[in-house]
Amino acid sequence: SLPKQVRLVEVGPRDGLQNEKQPISIADKVRLVDDLSAAGLGHIEVGSFVSPKWVPQMAGSAEVFARIAQKPGVSYTALTPNLKGLEAAMAAGVSEVAVFAAASEAFSQKNINCSIDESLARFAPLMEAARENGIRVRGYVSCVLGCPYEGEVDPAQVARVARELFAMGCYEVSLGDTIGTGTPGKTRQLIDIVSRAVPRDKLAGHFHDTYGQALANIYASLLEGICVFDSSVAGLGGCPYAKGASGNVASEDVLYMLDGLGIDTGIDLEALIAAGQRISDVLGRPNGSRVAKARQHR
Ligand code: HMG
Ligand code: MG
Repeated sequence: SLPKQVRLVEVGPRDGLQNEKQPISIADKVRLVDDLSAAGLGHIEVGSFVSPKWVPQMAGSAEVFARIAQKPGVSYTALTPNLKGLEAAMAAGVSEVAVFAAASEAFSQKNINCSIDESLARFAPLMEAARENGIRVRGYVSCVLGCPYEGEVDPAQVARVARELFAMGCYEVSLGDTIGTGTPGKTRQLIDIVSRAVPRDKLAGHFHDTYGQALANIYASLLEGICVFDSSVAGLGGCPYAKGASGNVASEDVLYMLDGLGIDTGIDLEALIAAGQRISDVLGRPNGSRVAKARQHR
């Protein structure tokens, strides 16, 4: 049976915008985050405290945090790959962060320049400092349903990394289908296996829509008892220079499906569509949400 409530984690300002090659002003990023909180999102991933050489677009994250209108009850979070990132996040007043590991060695090397085990070891001092300072930490596992370099990924390897992140204190582990190659049957099988390592109510789904499977994979996950999903307003994300690459599933499309299923999220669809259209206009590109596009032609 389906859950009565779902929590959506909006990752557009981070996972979406991190890939943008064109400069985006701090004011436009702040407006996006404020539009999202006004639409009723309760969890917004605002930015990253990573090396600016690796992801230049996220360099202004501290300024974005300083300027957003923080709405009570909303979690405004950031990615932090190491202790240095956590310290920068704390200096910016961030109260929740996320660490990110991968289920594939090759992806770990390309994304964070170290092996899976090295990354987990690097998170240990971060987790300790976070605990001392009352900072909540979420965990990500990338490449859970396929890797751009290694192809197939063993669900047992996903379960191992998820278990380690949960054991070191992550309150929730988000399973990332980084390249969107997953299909619903494989998604169900993955959750079945990973849930033996981390309880289902501590797992989240993070589906990129590259192959158009994300909504089906979310529905499959709902049937497996998963109640938290990451999504990106207007489907932001994907590299404009890489053919076929695409972002996270569009938040509007997920919300439309959940509304249709009678599942409560506390989010207002029309306000969310407006937020997505505004940032799409800023970026000068078509809105990546099918629901938003349909509404424009109504
Ligand atoms: P490295 O080069 O191995 O790190 O990078 P290092 O420790 O040798 O340091 C090199 C330089 O980076 C030094 O500066 C450090 O101070 C600096 P220099 O002395 O050369 O001037 N540095 C930092 N600067 C700012 N903030 C920091 C930081 N740490 C070191 N936190 C590192 C290793 C992890 C830092 C690098 O690889 C990195 O920043 N990677 C981030 C990559 C990234 O953000 N990827 C996208 C997010 S993950 C994702 O999108 C997947 C997800 O959506 C789920 C899914 O879809 O699967 C979450
Ligand atoms: Mg992602």
